[in-house]
Amino acid sequence: MSFGDIKDRVIEATDLVMLIGEIVQLRKSGRNFQGLCPFHNEKSPSFLVSYDKNIYKCFGCGKSGNAISFMMEYHGLSFKESLKELGRRAGFSTSEFEESKETKEVLSQRDSIFRALELATDYFEKALKSNLGQIGKEYLNQRDFSKETIHEFRLGLSFDGWDNLMNELKRQDIPETILLSAGLILKNDNGKIYDRFRNRLMFPIQNFMGKVIGFGARMLKDEPNQPKYLNSPQTEVYDKSNTLYGIFQAKNEIRNKKAAILVEGYADVISLHQAGFKHAVASSGTSLTKQQLDLLNKFCNTIYIVYDADKAGISATERAIELAVENNFEILIVNLPPGEDPDSVIRKNGSAVFTAYLNQAISFVEFKVNLAKSNNGLHTPKQKSEFIIELLKIINRIPNKLEHSDFIQQLSELIGISASQLKSVYLEKSKIAKLVESQDSAKHFHQIQHQEPSLSESKIITDNTYFDNILHEEEIILQMILTNEKAGKVIFETYKINEDKLFSEEAKDLFALLKELYFSGSKNLIHTIIADEDIDNMIKDYLSEISLNSDEISENWGRFTQTMKPIDFKRIIQDSYINIEIYKLNLESERIKNQLKSLPSSEHLVFLQKIKDLNEKKSNLLIKLKRIEF
Ligand code: CTP
Ligand code: MN
Repeated sequence: MSFGDIKDRVIEATDLVMLIGEIVQLRKSGRNFQGLCPFHNEKSPSFLVSYDKNIYKCFGCGKSGNAISFMMEYHGLSFKESLKELGRRAGFSTSEFEESKETKEVLSQRDSIFRALELATDYFEKALKSNLGQIGKEYLNQRDFSKETIHEFRLGLSFDGWDNLMNELKRQDIPETILLSAGLILKNDNGKIYDRFRNRLMFPIQNFMGKVIGFGARMLKDEPNQPKYLNSPQTEVYDKSNTLYGIFQAKNEIRNKKAAILVEGYADVISLHQAGFKHAVASSGTSLTKQQLDLLNKFCNTIYIVYDADKAGISATERAIELAVENNFEILIVNLPPGEDPDSVIRKNGSAVFTAYLNQAISFVEFKVNLAKSNNGLHTPKQKSEFIIELLKIINRIPNKLEHSDFIQQLSELIGISASQLKSVYLEKSKIAKLVESQDSAKHFHQIQHQEPSLSESKIITDNTYFDNILHEEEIILQMILTNEKAGKVIFETYKINEDKLFSEEAKDLFALLKELYFSGSKNLIHTIIADEDIDNMIKDYLSEISLNSDEISENWGRFTQTMKPIDFKRIIQDSYINIEIYKLNLESERIKNQLKSLPSSEHLVFLQKIKDLNEKKSNLLIKLKRIEF
């Protein structure tokens, strides 16, 4: 049978109202069913499911499709997985989906493992509820886990003993080989087999479809030489690196909130859910992986990391930051008091306090700065510069380049170094990113950073009024010289323009400085300026700021290159000079008009003539500016 045939049969066999009804509360409305759209947040229902046509459509967000697209879009499955899952639900035999004998066998082996795990879960749940399960109930009671929570997460108990589960599942016709493959039993060197999980509280680990794929098992009371948690080994269906504990229970809320809370432990997830934070999942004591992020990526783009405030938690947070940032997640770090985890905070202080912690979540930049400060890692110039480079490297890896300058700004405020200086280093870094790793450039950076400690004394330029006198056009000219090598050549060599042509003293000084550096053979003016110890920090700030604001630079930010026309730099320079000239003429005629007021009318004529001359000059310039040819 072809795939197309199977597809049609599966869609036909699926009751779409029931399938969607598992997730959305649907009400009958005429021939259709109606509910709140699962794909976007809404208050009045605009999501319709047609019973006759077996399709759905949302009149709010426009999403529409059939059973397969629903599995793909809502549950995040691939086409094939959707087909298989729907086929399974509709009672198709798996052989209809797989061609080769081998894959069939693997598939049925997987199915058998799933079945064994499901039966085990059921057995553990019943064990907890039984009379013999008192010890487990007491434990859960003491942790304040409610009946509903226990049910929702399918918590259970493994009895003390070597073969309770094994015997039970064998009674239900599960072969020993499957129990071994499922990680439920172990075989020792003598060939003796026994239950892996004994006398522990059982946390079934579910995939995002709700299927149990493994277990975490906690000791009920402290026992020496025993691990607190014992987990399923890697099996055909369980790989801890692509699993997030709680994802099945959390996915709806993660989708609604467009955010996930990432914690370390099983108990943290459960406490958070019980307290109403239903978007919590755990990486379960391993460091966050790319596959786990891919799983979250289907549902959200923001992650709150709430790891323990101990050494392990902090370094896990650091690793998670880098990975998440690289994969385009917004990442916010929640700091808990030392020794606490989300579970203990909720239990001791309640959910309002936890909300307060969430609201105080900080960016990764702030987290890294705080961490460096508390490790006394920001004292010496060298430490500081190494730290800056480390952070700029992380920032540089954020795929959305538009976010870079925000983070650079944050870093600047937190460590007291002007954003423009950081941006210069950043630009330097992105340009020669390839060299950064090499010894050479390490030295080079060191040079740049070596203006410390004066570097830290510099101010952010916007606090300063010194440069306010500089005209916009003067700024453009300085900017052109700084960012366009050809502009320097035209101004300094071809036309030999000097600072007299400018208006403000401040711009004249800066122009003279650039001219001097240009003729001393400096190729990249802004980098020379930043590295020059004799140049005032205020000037460095100002010049790096304007060189960053230029359109040329936006090419580095990757987004606009296609839409931007190449700039006619000669014309820009020329027009700037003309505008400065006109500005000077205007000032001059203002001055003359003012003089005129205090003079006897007999002397007016001379001055009126002067104004006339000025106006004539001005209109000539305006004509030039408009490129009107006569
Ligand atoms: N973990 C594990 N094996 C261990 C210890 C821990 O797999 N021997 C994993 C578990 O997923 C655990 C998580 O790491 O939930 C965090 O460990 P920890 O902070 O030690 O435990 P808590 O979650 O705080 O557990 P509890 O509150 O039950 O003591
Ligand atoms: Mn804990």
